[in-house]
Amino acid sequence: MSDPRAHPFDLTGRTALVTGGGRGIGFAISQGLADAGASVLINGRDETVLKQAAKQIEGATPLPFDITDSARINATFQNIDALDILINNVGVRDRNPIDAFNLDDFRNILDANVVAAFDLSRRAAGMMKMKGRGRIVNVTSIAGDIARSGDAIYTASKAALTGLTRAMAAEFGPHAITVNAIAPGYVASETNAPMVADPEIAKFLENRTALGRWAEPEELAGAAVFLASDAASYITGHVLTVDGGFTAHF
Ligand SMILES: NC(=O)c1ccc[n+]([C@@H]2O[C@H](COP(=O)([O-])OP(=O)(O)OC[C@H]3O[C@@H](n4cnc5c(N)ncnc54)[C@H](OP(=O)(O)O)[C@@H]3O)[C@@H](O)[C@H]2O)c1
Repeated sequence: MSDPRAHPFDLTGRTALVTGGGRGIGFAISQGLADAGASVLINGRDETVLKQAAKQIEGATPLPFDITDSARINATFQNIDALDILINNVGVRDRNPIDAFNLDDFRNILDANVVAAFDLSRRAAGMMKMKGRGRIVNVTSIAGDIARSGDAIYTASKAALTGLTRAMAAEFGPHAITVNAIAPGYVASETNAPMVADPEIAKFLENRTALGRWAEPEELAGAAVFLASDAASYITGHVLTVDGGFTAHF
């Protein structure tokens, strides 16, 4: 058990790996975990971006590798001494009608959004089991539960990641490893910049979300810190929706 006098959100002494932590939601989560005291390993494929990001976050270390490259993951994990928190944040998307895709398109998105999370989580869980404690947080999406036309592969991948969250929670629970997910709604990350600039989408969100606006990436960090902390010690297999009320009303 942890020190009951410590602040329940304190992550001092914990090491976290955040995939896709160089920008957007992953960067904001990395910043949040570091602010709570964690040492953060920031992953992504572009080393220059990661170095820039790490400069802005106290105690952060760039960890460049492609999460779909299992051999690279293996080699990387040989050099990690301890891991307390894994945030599977990478998610790729291709908005197109179903007939525009071939099967390799489907497989490639599943590789990044689901298979890599499976691969990383079981390696991380191996280290967490030795410690008798661990936290895995998967960044899914409200698209895991609700669908729009022209987004089939992403939607399927996020639903799969939600299922994987529950399955890993069941399997890793006896080792005191919790596995949860965060399901963001519309987030004004760099990738969404063209949509954020679109007044029609702003109008849509004004009507469609209870809070009437986009989320800033920083607004996802609190959920990640909470689920990674001792404050969430009895929460596992849960999907925490952070969508400004998008799915709560119509
Ligand atoms: N933004 C939203 O509105 C929204 C809504 C719901 C859910 N989400 C989910 O939230 C997560 C983050 O979204 P975001 O908008 O912040 O994404 P983003 O801005 O597109 O960032 C994705 C990050 O993942 C990295 N990445 C992509 N493929 C990778 C790979 N194969 N290996 C390692 N790193 C890789 C990218 O860096 P490199 O390209 O340099 O590798 C980048 O840092 C995703 O899972 C997304 O599905 C986002």
